[in-house]
Amino acid sequence: MTDLVNVSFVKPGRKLGGTVVAFVNDALGFGKAAGALGIAGLLKQAAATAEFKGKPRTSLDLLAPRGTDLDRLILIGVGKAADMAEGDWVKLGGAVVGALGKTAKATVLFERPDDEAVDGALAAEFALGAKLRGYVFDNYRPDSEDAPKRKTPTELAIALADTSGAKAAWTARGAAADGVMLARDLINEPANVLGPVEFAERAAALRTLGVDIEVLTENQMKKLGMRALLGVAQGSVRPPRLVIMRWNGGKSKEAPLAFVGKGVVFDSGGISIKPAAGMEDMKGDMGGAAAVTGLMQTLAARKAKVNAIGVIGLVENMVDGAAQRPGDIVTAMTGRTIEVINTDAEGRLVLADAIAYTEDRFKPKFIIDLATLTGAIIVALGHLQAGMFSSDDALADALNKAGAATGELVWRMPLGPDYDKLIDSKFADVKNVGGRDAGSITAAQFIKRFVKKTPWVHLDIAGTALGSPQTDINRSWSSGWGVRLLDRLVADNYEG
Ligand code: BES
Ligand code: MN
Ligand code: ZN
Repeated sequence: MTDLVNVSFVKPGRKLGGTVVAFVNDALGFGKAAGALGIAGLLKQAAATAEFKGKPRTSLDLLAPRGTDLDRLILIGVGKAADMAEGDWVKLGGAVVGALGKTAKATVLFERPDDEAVDGALAAEFALGAKLRGYVFDNYRPDSEDAPKRKTPTELAIALADTSGAKAAWTARGAAADGVMLARDLINEPANVLGPVEFAERAAALRTLGVDIEVLTENQMKKLGMRALLGVAQGSVRPPRLVIMRWNGGKSKEAPLAFVGKGVVFDSGGISIKPAAGMEDMKGDMGGAAAVTGLMQTLAARKAKVNAIGVIGLVENMVDGAAQRPGDIVTAMTGRTIEVINTDAEGRLVLADAIAYTEDRFKPKFIIDLATLTGAIIVALGHLQAGMFSSDDALADALNKAGAATGELVWRMPLGPDYDKLIDSKFADVKNVGGRDAGSITAAQFIKRFVKKTPWVHLDIAGTALGSPQTDINRSWSSGWGVRLLDRLVADNYEG
């Protein structure tokens, strides 16, 4: 991974040189610091020539601007600054890094074009967007000419009056940026490099931040009766792991929040093998586990005042003489028997045991699971929103709000007894598929059967975590979806 942007917050009023970025509104107005550059005439002429109208995140790039000492001036549109929501500042940070390209050093005049005061916290949002846009996964083509890589990061000095507010807010936002980038890295990494054991080792590195880590091996899981998870793993030469991450930043008696992630490091489909086309994407079938790991890192790095548990079930789903077969019946940790109709519906088997373990042992306030669970959710929602299934309206509403605030959107899907019937089995308590129709819903109904009484949300992130759209704040195959959403959920509801 290369993290191509370093940010700092500096007081305005220094002599400006090199590359400068200034904000322009849709009336072509700009703030005091930009005005001091004496660029009014230049802007008017250049804007007319290039038809630049100050629309949000459009830019006008002026080299050696006449009448200034600058090498380069990038004017970036903000539209109507008064209407900008927090998320717009994040996107703006991304757009600025995009406009800067390979520039080694730049100063951003962080001021509103109407000269209204601007809160330091917004500069931290801006910096978050800048960092996220600056992420590239180039581990395997470090010297390639066409790789988007630069050897050294852009030093981005953000000039504003409220540097102390910005720096204070940056502790948390910088931690989120790092958590998102960790999740992206884990997902982009190929499966030959990142097996269950290697993933567990990367998660264990969170110890340095004060996270308690336990790693359960195959034998320990056998003793616990996790035959649903182990059935998936048995076709792989690489042994499974269950990692438990604990961040104790809250009161000692307070019940923890629990996050559970599907961590299938590669999903071939098993004996119900997948078609070859696109199978390489299944290296990312641990996107849920990656988001949980990124979240735990974020909470620890910003010393969140909360108790949180992250549990990730790490397995590889392979085709082999020892692999589980369609028709096999396994007994999950809860004692329920599962008829495995399709070995490619493996994520729910992993989650069944990881969730049961989490509920039994930790008695959490809630359980939120994240999983790249079904292709059907991509058919329904594309790559723009995650499917949300919940037994608890209040928790679903809180997630909706966190989604709107971060731009990591969730769309609630239905659950109900008539869907539940579709996974009744002829031979066991439940079967692992419910037919082609309503595939994401029957998958959620399956998981629901393994949650006893804890408020629960399931997020199907098959679309949002992988093959992410190119946006202002993400140019990577994986957006690291979920880290910011859940960090926000925690910050807004559980740290007071
Ligand atoms: N990991 C896949 C789901 C998936 C598909 C994630 C595409 C990301 C992109 C999951 O394990 C799976 O194979 N689901 C099956 C379920 C089916 C067999 C009931 C699917 O969606 O086809
Ligand atoms: Mn599968
Ligand atoms: Zn899968």
